[in-house]
Amino acid sequence: VENYYSEKYRPQFHFSPEANWMNDPNGMVYYEGEYHLFYQYYPDSTVWGPMHWGHAISTDLVHWEHLPIALYPDSLGYIFSGSAVVDWNNASGFGTDENPPLIAIYTYHNPDIAKAGGTDVESQAIAYSLDKGRSWIKYDENPVIPNDGNRDFRDPNVIWNEDIQKWNLLLSAHDHVQIYSSDNLKEWQYESDFGIDAGGHGGVWECPDLFPLQVEGTDNTKWVLIVNINPGGPNGGSATQYFVGDFDGHKFIADSKKTSWIDYGRDNYAGVTWSDIPKEDGRRIFLGWMSNWDYANVVPTEKWRSAMTIPRKLNLQKANDGFVLASFPVDELKNIRTDEFEIPAQDISERVEINTRSVQLNRSEMDFTFQLNSNSLSGATEEFGLALSNNKGEIFEIKYSPETQTFYIDRTKAGLNSFSDKFASKSIANYKAGDNMEIRVFVDEASIEVFVDGGKLVMTEIVFPSEPYSTLEMFSTNGAIKLSSGKLWSLNSVWE
Ligand code: FRU
Repeated sequence: VENYYSEKYRPQFHFSPEANWMNDPNGMVYYEGEYHLFYQYYPDSTVWGPMHWGHAISTDLVHWEHLPIALYPDSLGYIFSGSAVVDWNNASGFGTDENPPLIAIYTYHNPDIAKAGGTDVESQAIAYSLDKGRSWIKYDENPVIPNDGNRDFRDPNVIWNEDIQKWNLLLSAHDHVQIYSSDNLKEWQYESDFGIDAGGHGGVWECPDLFPLQVEGTDNTKWVLIVNINPGGPNGGSATQYFVGDFDGHKFIADSKKTSWIDYGRDNYAGVTWSDIPKEDGRRIFLGWMSNWDYANVVPTEKWRSAMTIPRKLNLQKANDGFVLASFPVDELKNIRTDEFEIPAQDISERVEINTRSVQLNRSEMDFTFQLNSNSLSGATEEFGLALSNNKGEIFEIKYSPETQTFYIDRTKAGLNSFSDKFASKSIANYKAGDNMEIRVFVDEASIEVFVDGGKLVMTEIVFPSEPYSTLEMFSTNGAIKLSSGKLWSLNSVWE
């Protein structure tokens, strides 16, 4: 008998459902000391099916407790993605001033209408909880936003907008987002749309999120609009784009119509942020589904399918041409570090194996700083990087070429990939490094998350090595590179 959560490929410090199918994170809200994570869930199979909202809670974003399914499909349809907020002033009237309700805002997807070829398949609905999210009552006058003629019309995301003292709701309608406003979360007024002439259009727009964020090191606040898109990602399939701009509660105006990507890897989708994190904390925390619709239904896990990314704090940073939305692992993850080991500073030329002592590479965190322009080196590197490999000769590579200013990860030989012809791939991003490059890597049993320079560039990918990675190498071609600092940790399982 296999132990709980010790099956092959079971993530040890990422959230995954106990059994069966999971996709998008939903209804992420913080209330009374608990981070809620709801998620698209099909409890009867390991492939996508009639959607429910699964539910888990955490007090530290790292250790999760599974709770019973929160929302079941009903006569109006499946329960698709959405958000949740605390209705602090009981504007909805579902609670009391002493016990403000939690409100979930989700999409009904009606499979019968879909089958019949109708367009009014999707509409927006609400449900409330008066017991800290443990039980939910659906509003008896749902839907609150009926279908408007767009066949794709979903994934409502609600925020309280301080500036206009109203709620704003954002949803995705095929190739654009729509913005609404409300005083009571039940009656919604259409305000405007965004996106028909902006961003990527290689696929359907899904799961939007809109929030203010302080620009790091300034008193200035900008609005960030996240829009997921599938397919059309920078390296194929599902991905998350963002825009930075201004929002007055009515209309979002982007500084640039160009798409930026929150993650250049192939496995970070449908990510949005937590609502109602207290002001004293002040963080905007993002979490994505660590898979890709290109192959999500066929990845080689048997009992459950897929996990979430690690939670990431979003940082808005001023860049030469606008802003960069950096995303970086939350500090809470430092609490599961163990076996700290410092790699001596050294010049890397050719290929060297790093002695990693007792660090378990298949559950590890690594933090390296490379000095790109060191005078002490004869001839600059053409390309340098790291490789994780196992005794089967499977290898995962992370590389940067200062010459071509490209960063890439390569999982073509990293493990199993025959389950889908879209899986084996190299992911590439153009990236201009400074004099130093920091590369922070989180490795779990079946995933690798790479954060470059504080999360200015991120790549998240899943991998299925036929046995755990056990060797770490560094390399540099046609010249040397200086490793100026390196640290490794094993990470404790959060499921033990
Ligand atoms: C994104 C998505 C959402 C939808 C949900 C259905 O992955 O397609 O647009 O609400 O998944 O499970």
